[in-house]
Order: sequence, then C-alpha cells, then structure tokens
Amino acid sequence: MVKLIIDTDPGIDDAMAIFYAAAAPDIDLLGLTTIFGNVTTATATRNALRLLEAAGLDVPVASGATAPLVLPPFKPSSHVHGDEGFGDIPAAEPKGKPLEEDAADFLCRMAREHKGELVVCPIGPLTNIALAMQRDPEFIENVKSIVVMGGSLEEGGNITPHAEANIYHDPHAADVVCQGGEKVVFVGLDVTHRILCTAEDFESIAAKSPELGGMLQEMSYFYLKFYLEVAGKNGCSLHDPAAVIACTHPELFGMRDVPLEVSCGGETSGATLAAPDSGRDPVKVCMTVEADRVKSLFLKRLTLLP
Ligand code: RIB
Ligand code: CA
Repeated sequence: MVKLIIDTDPGIDDAMAIFYAAAAPDIDLLGLTTIFGNVTTATATRNALRLLEAAGLDVPVASGATAPLVLPPFKPSSHVHGDEGFGDIPAAEPKGKPLEEDAADFLCRMAREHKGELVVCPIGPLTNIALAMQRDPEFIENVKSIVVMGGSLEEGGNITPHAEANIYHDPHAADVVCQGGEKVVFVGLDVTHRILCTAEDFESIAAKSPELGGMLQEMSYFYLKFYLEVAGKNGCSLHDPAAVIACTHPELFGMRDVPLEVSCGGETSGATLAAPDSGRDPVKVCMTVEADRVKSLFLKRLTLLP
C-alpha cells in the first residue's frame, strides 16, 4: 500500500488522477495539496474538496502557494480545462474547508510523521514542493519519493515548443525540485503523450461507474475538444493519472538517470534539460512506458467507483 499525497491544480486530468487514486486498492490517500495552474489556487482548493466529497473520501486538503517563486502569476488555463476547471461543469461549493496549515507545512509534517513511507505526487506546478524543500532541509530525506507529472526531455513542449505546462508555470520551483536527487521521478510528455484516452473510453467508464465515471465523461467533452482542435488528436493524454500510476507501478515505465536543469528565462523558459556537467545528482526521467497496461489499469480501476 502506497501512502500518497497528491499536489494538484484540478483540472480535468487531475480529477481523473484523484478518482483513480480513490479507486486504487494499493493507494492510501493521505491528503491533497493545491496549487495554481489550470485554475487559481482558490479554485483548485474548492475543486479538490469537491472531488473528495464526490468520492466519499474524508481526507485533508491544504491550500498552497498562489504565485510562482519568482515569476508573476500566470492566467489559469481556461482554454484547456474550462473557467471552473472541470470543462463545462458549473462551479459548486463543497461542504468542507481546507486546513489552516498551508500546503508546504502540511507536506513537511506528513513527511516527518510517515518518514520513509510518504510518496508525494505533484501533478501541477512545483511551487509547493520547492517551498517544502526550502522550509525543511530534511524533507527529501523524509519522503520515500516525489513522482512529478511534468517535463519533457525529447518530446518537445505542450505549452510552448520547449516547455511542458507544469514546469513552465514555475520553472524556478521546478529547478529546485531537480536538485532533489534519486528520489525524484519525472513522468513527462515523453511518456504521457503515448497514453491516449478516447470518447469511447470515457463512455465505457461512465457505463460502469455512472456517478463518478459519469462526471469524468462530462468533463472529458471539453478536454477532448481541445485535443482535437489544438493538437489534432482523437483522444486526450492521461498526464496526471500516469504519474499516480507510476507511484504504484514503476515497473511499467522505463527510466533514465539524468542530472536535470530547468531553463528559467527566454524562449526556452520551462524546458527540462539534461545537464551532465552541472554536478547535480541524477533524477529519474521516464522515457518509455507500457502504455496499454497503464491505460487498462486506469480504465479497469475507475469502473470500481460508484
Ligand atoms: O502538461 C500536462 C499538465 O498540465 C497536467 O498536469 C495538466 O493537468 C496541466 O496542468
Ligand atoms: Ca494537473
């Protein structure tokens, strides 16, 4: 059983990842932390609480940073995820409230309390994770691993020709996380672009899981439309679910040990770059994936939900 905290900007594929974690028998979800990216941090917190309530999960949510470490705030990615984060599904107020403690403090405390066992899975910009590393020098030592959805080594970008969106939205924070060494795993576009989910896949999920699967299907219309119109693809990438699956099934991914740097300015801002002469310890970057097995795990487990 993997003890997991997901750091998230929900977000349509974030919702898929969180519902997947709710369904997975090998995941003990200890909480969610929130971050800007697809939506503002306030909306991310509201959406995270709403997803947990829909899934019947009583776990804490800690609200995170509202702006990147150095850069000014970006506008939310409404064209990809809709104004409220879930495509055309309107906003709704959850019953619950976030913790008083902020995301970075919550992450540091949970890593101490579950020393050597906690897996942190950031599926949004990396600001909270960088803050946790800066606030507690033992944070990296205390976690079991940090499995990031983000980056691209050979695939090119998705928000610019060079950068993947999560890294682009706080490159300075991502560069801090790149200095975390062998416990840091990047699940980026090199693999997530190989895992596509179609309208028919969401239909089959909704047929077996009308409530939560139905909610994902409703969100998916907006996301699939974006993929078709902008990327010309008949299907959307399972970015965030792939990172959560890598937490429990690393054997489905081929990883390369690479010292990594992030470009923090200019045209290439947000690019993740191999830096063999940097003196940095290597992180792990996923370069290959058994895409059919990841996808079938995703489809099979989501149908366990109501
Ligand atoms: O590039 C894909 C990532 O950007 C995903 O985490 C998605 O939710 C968006 O935030
Ligand atoms: Ca995300």
